[in-house]
Amino acid sequence: MSLLYLKNVSKDYNDSFVLENVTFEMEPGEFISLVGRSGVGKTTLFKILIKEEKSTKGRVFFNDKDIAKLKPKELTYLRRKIGMIFQDFKLLVNRTAFENVAFAMEVAGYSYESIKKDVPEFLKLVGLENRLNHFPYQLSAGEKQRVVIARVLAQRPELILADEPTGNLDPINTWEIIKLLLKINEFGTAIILATHDKEVVNTLGKRVISLEGGKIIRDEKEGKYLI
Ligand SMILES: Nc1ncnc2c1ncn2[C@@H]1O[C@H](COP(=O)(O)OP(=O)(O)OP(=O)(O)O)[C@@H](O)[C@H]1O
Ligand SMILES: [Mg+2]
Repeated sequence: MSLLYLKNVSKDYNDSFVLENVTFEMEPGEFISLVGRSGVGKTTLFKILIKEEKSTKGRVFFNDKDIAKLKPKELTYLRRKIGMIFQDFKLLVNRTAFENVAFAMEVAGYSYESIKKDVPEFLKLVGLENRLNHFPYQLSAGEKQRVVIARVLAQRPELILADEPTGNLDPINTWEIIKLLLKINEFGTAIILATHDKEVVNTLGKRVISLEGGKIIRDEKEGKYLI
């Protein structure tokens, strides 16, 4: 069984192709780096996976279910099972680290008791046990990204889509975040990491999917960033 299966997924905006016949399969717990130049369609692909955008052609299966056929309830479930991490964090600015993670759990329907118990655990997992009551403006960029990761973990996702998660970070924080993603992956969560960072991709030694001109030009088990 595959976690994710894209079959000939194409997307065009106003008749110009962004993605063309993108096909790949992903196993549960796999780690994939998705690389390619700016504008090649990485974010668009992520948006298609969470049904924020609709593909023009092709099909996407998550846990063997065609996402085009999901009922509203199942779509909510899909969005819980696929967690997104963005370059620009997207934290709620007027809420503390604790409240940002708590809010995600609340939306996902967790009880007050489990929120109170689990939020500090998730923040501890990302090394922020001493920052529970800090607001985003009181946190460094690296710390903000850790709150985002804690928030995503609180959804208990099966797949994390990390869209340039280290784009705003210095090299030291970049590695801290990458190490954290690897740890999460070791616990069994599948990850697709969209990145421009050659050094990160080449050091990871994981599967690399390279996009160019809207197509997959390479899909290698222990790939390198060659573009
Ligand atoms: N809503 C939209 N309407 C029209 N064109 C769009 C829309 N969204 C994205 N595009 C175009 O689709 C292409 C792919 O954009 P996308 O954001 O997926 O690229 P990307 O690979 O994520 O780039 P980056 O590495 O800079 O984040 C770009 O040419 C962009 O201008
Ligand atoms: Mg992008």
